Order: sequence, then structure tokens, then C-alpha cells
Amino acid sequence: MIIPVITIDGPTASGKGTVAHRVAKHLGFHYLDSGALYRLTALSATRQGIALDNEEMLAALARVLPCRFIKGHVLLDGEDVTDAVRAEAIGVAASKIAVLPQVRKALLDLQIAFRYSPGLVADGRDMGTVIFPDATQKVYLTASVEARANRRYKQLIEKGFSANMEDLVKDLAERDARDTVRAAAPLKPAPGAYILDTSEMTVDEAVHVVLDLYANAVKLST
Ligand code: DC
Repeated sequence: MIIPVITIDGPTASGKGTVAHRVAKHLGFHYLDSGALYRLTALSATRQGIALDNEEMLAALARVLPCRFIKGHVLLDGEDVTDAVRAEAIGVAASKIAVLPQVRKALLDLQIAFRYSPGLVADGRDMGTVIFPDATQKVYLTASVEARANRRYKQLIEKGFSANMEDLVKDLAERDARDTVRAAAPLKPAPGAYILDTSEMTVDEAVHVVLDLYANAVKLST
């Protein structure tokens, strides 16, 4: 039996995490936050003093990443690092190590293992292009830099982190550039992906669009 997968790729702070999580919950599917794996590797490397361009050591770290995801919490070696991995500095570090092909390869099997019954919603940059090219429905979720910076600002303030709008816009633009131009699995819409611009949309509206797309894709495949 083919296990259904919905891939939701897109740039940072496009809202794909929230949308993917809600879609998964609605369908009773598992949820893969692939960015968290890059963030966990970056956090672990930072703590161990491993340079962010030391490809071999970073890949070795990623290969045996002691991570677990329990009820919305992210654990690293048993420690709850849910908030620590979301820090802006760790996002930037994750984007830096994500350009390294060996790191991406090291995280491949871990990501594929999330595909089990009854289905998966996977969010990231290369879910539809590299990890799950046979996905049932592929979505590319995007929004303007301003809308994304606004969302990230709110998220950070809510979590008690300090944030500065100007710095955020600059960080987002830099990360977009790094994620898009890298040679290994660059951020781009997968062939056949539905491009959804959420700049002017609520989360509810975006969730509905994805659920409708998936329902249609299932109908067409049966
Ligand atoms: O989605 P996020 O902001 O949590 O991801 C953090 C970084 O990890 C992002 O800047 C690029 C990288 N990433 C990636 O290269 N491929 C993925 N599938 C997910 C994230």
C-alpha cells in the first residue's frame, strides 16, 4: 500500500509549519518538521563547539542525532529544546549547515522514516523535490518578505525573545538567498506543486486550500 504524503515546502516564516501541523491534525496524519532536524544539528554543533563549515563532523553528528518528537516537544538527548531550536541564531546556523551535501544525506533516512500509516504531512524546503518526490499532493507555500517578517516578529515576541523588525527583514532575505542559491537541494517549487501565496490569507484559509487540494488528488488517483 502506498502511504499518502502531503509536502509543504516554502521559505522561512511562510507559515508552512502552522499550516502543515493543522493539516496533519485534521487528517490524523503524522507530521515531519524537517527544519527541526537541521536546527537540532545546528544546536548540537554549536554546543559542542563544532564549526558550521566542518562538513564531516556535522554529518557525523546528524547521522546519530539523538532526537525525539513528543507531543509538539522537541527533545535532544532527552532534554526539552523546543524553544532553544526556534531561536533566530539557531535558524541562521541551520541554514548555513543545510548547504552541506553530506549533512543533507545524513538526515535523509531519518526523514523518510516518518512516512508510515496512515500518512504524513512533511514541511521543509526539499520535501517535494528530493525526499518525497512521489508525494500525493505537493504545495509550495510562500508569502511576501514583509508578511513573513511580521509573522516571525510576532512569534518571537510571544515566546519572550527580543526581536527587531529591520534585522528580521535582513535575516529573512539572507536566508532566502542562501536556501535558494545553494547547489544541494535548493528551495524551489517541486514539479507539479501548487503555489499558494498566503500574504493575504489567514491560517484557516490556507489549511482549507491544502485540504481541498489533497481531497482532489486522492479522488483523481482512485
Ligand atoms: O523551516 P526552518 O526555518 O525551521 O528551517 C531552518 C533551516 O533549515 C532553513 O533555513 C533551511 C534548512 N532546511 C533545509 O535546508 N531543508 C529542509 N527540508 C528544511 C530546512
